Amino acid sequence: MVNKYIFSIFFLILLVLTSFTYADENPELQILVSDKQEKILSLSIMKEELKQYKITLNDPYYKKEKQYKAFKLKDVLNLAYSSKWHLGDFTDLTFRAYDGYESIAVISKLENEGGYIVFRDLDYQDWEPISFTGAYPGPFYIIWTGKGQTAKNGYPWPWQLESINLVTFNDQFPETVPKSADKNSGVYKGYELFKGRCLRCHSINGQGGKIGPDLNAPKNILEYRNADFVKSYIKDPSQFRFTHMPDHKDLSDKQLTSLIDYFLYNKEKNRWSFDEKN
Ligand code: HEC
Repeated sequence: MVNKYIFSIFFLILLVLTSFTYADENPELQILVSDKQEKILSLSIMKEELKQYKITLNDPYYKKEKQYKAFKLKDVLNLAYSSKWHLGDFTDLTFRAYDGYESIAVISKLENEGGYIVFRDLDYQDWEPISFTGAYPGPFYIIWTGKGQTAKNGYPWPWQLESINLVTFNDQFPETVPKSADKNSGVYKGYELFKGRCLRCHSINGQGGKIGPDLNAPKNILEYRNADFVKSYIKDPSQFRFTHMPDHKDLSDKQLTSLIDYFLYNKEKNRWSFDEKN
């Protein structure tokens, strides 16, 4: 009886160990177009097809110099999509991590040099955990080496990357688009800013990132906060709280006002507070 028990435990451990080794040796990246799976790129396929680079980077998450083995992001995208990612109505790529975190980036940014997909941490046997979260960035981690290529400026830095999805933004997040606003209006400028810098963490009408709160559903942010507070909060949240929301000190008053215009537009269209009144 006892023997049988020990044997099953042993077998289970063996099973878990083999599956881990397997996952570590040849992790896979899922390649999607408008949410549909197109192909799977395994690390071994990428190693066969793509040039490998050794990168030394002052990593903003580790806050120190790191050495990595990586592929060029553009090479991976070309292998995944050939020329399709530059064509048609596609506007953005979304990058989904194993924990559900999704970052969105416009294609014109991803066409720039400087982006790499790291597949190995050269300073560490496996992956070094990032101290403030304890998370391992592997199996795939996107980094940018150019000056100003920060997450804040719309360059995605997801770690534990699971899938890449080529999308048309307006099909993917239709609820965030201010459909009746003029392209030159403050509302539209605010929307573009929101899309580039806030949407990866915040949703509007239920669509977008899940790290921060939805800013229109069920109540619009301006129904319980005044505009001046919201502006100073966006600019400098760390003055108010210890928070995961980054400061946006570079935003001008005009840009902050355009964000308010965008929130006001959404407030007028808010169907949740309308339901509440009835
Ligand atoms: C990295 C993720 C992240 C990004 C990027 C981000 N936020 Fe936030 N934001 C949060 C989180 C988390 C909270 C909620 C908790 C907090 O305030 O710390 C928050 C809270 C807020 C609040 C509510 C404050 C309150 O007390 O009601 C507003 C308004 C806001 N964010 C606007 C923005 C805008 C506008 C942008 C883009 C310019 C932005 N955020 C970018 C994560 C983010």
